[in-house]
Amino acid sequence: MIRKKLIAGNWKMNCLLEEGTMLAKSVAAKVKANKYDCDFLICPPFTILAAVKKCLRGTKIALGAQDVHFADKGAHTGDISPLMLTDLGCSYVIIGHSERRVDHHESNKLINQKAVAAHNAGLNTVICIGETGAERDAGKTIKVCQDEIFGSVPDDATAKNTVIAYEPIWAIGTGKTPTADDVEEVHAAIRAALSKKLGKAIANKMRILYGGSVKPSNAGELLKLPDVDGALIGGASLKADDFVAIAENALK
Ligand code: PGA
Repeated sequence: MIRKKLIAGNWKMNCLLEEGTMLAKSVAAKVKANKYDCDFLICPPFTILAAVKKCLRGTKIALGAQDVHFADKGAHTGDISPLMLTDLGCSYVIIGHSERRVDHHESNKLINQKAVAAHNAGLNTVICIGETGAERDAGKTIKVCQDEIFGSVPDDATAKNTVIAYEPIWAIGTGKTPTADDVEEVHAAIRAALSKKLGKAIANKMRILYGGSVKPSNAGELLKLPDVDGALIGGASLKADDFVAIAENALK
C-alpha cells in the first residue's frame, strides 16, 4: 500500500504578517526547487491565512487552518466557519489538537462535529489524538488513542478527506520522542481501530502522521516506519530549512 507522505507544519500562535509571509515564501521557494515526492501542508494562524495563500501560488503546498467551528454561520462571536476557510483558499483544517482539547476543553464529540462540518464544506481534516505522560506511564497509550479514534473520527471519514495525527502530548515541544518501536506499535493500533470503525480498505489508505518534537535529525528514523505516513511539525516548521530538511530526510 503506497501512501504518499504528508509533511505538515503547524505554526500555532506564531508569526505576524511580515515574519509569516517571509517564512511561507522561503518554504515555497525550497519546495519548488526540489520537487519532493511528498505532499506539503502549512497551517498558519487565521490572521495571515490570506497573505500566506498568496505566497504559495504556483506551488503544490496546501494551506490549512488550525481550528474551525461546526456551524456554517451565525451567532458565534470570535469563531470561524468551514466556509470562511474554503473562501480563503484553505483545503485542510487541523481539528482536536491537544492544545485545543486542553485550553478549550474540546471533547471527542465536539471534534467529531467539527470534522463533519469541515468535510461538508469540502475541507480535509487532520484529526489529532494522543496520550498524556500520565496515561503513558499507566500503560494506557493504546486504549486512549483507540478511544479517541472511535470518538473523534466521524463516520463519513475517508482516506481522502481525513488524516490522523498521533501526537503524544508529553512529546509536544519537549524535545522528547517515543522510541521508533513505540511509535510503530501505536500507529499500527490506530490503523486497527480505523479498520474496525471505517473498514479495512479505508484504514489501509488513510494517512497517519506522527507529531511531537519532529526535527531533521529524527525524521529519517520516524518517518520510515511502515505505518507512519508523514509528520505534523510544530517548532521545526517555523524554520524553512528545518521544515524542508524533515521532508528530505523522510524521503531518503
Ligand atoms: P512540536 O509540535 O513539533 O513543536 O513538538 C507538534 C504539534 O503540536 O503539532
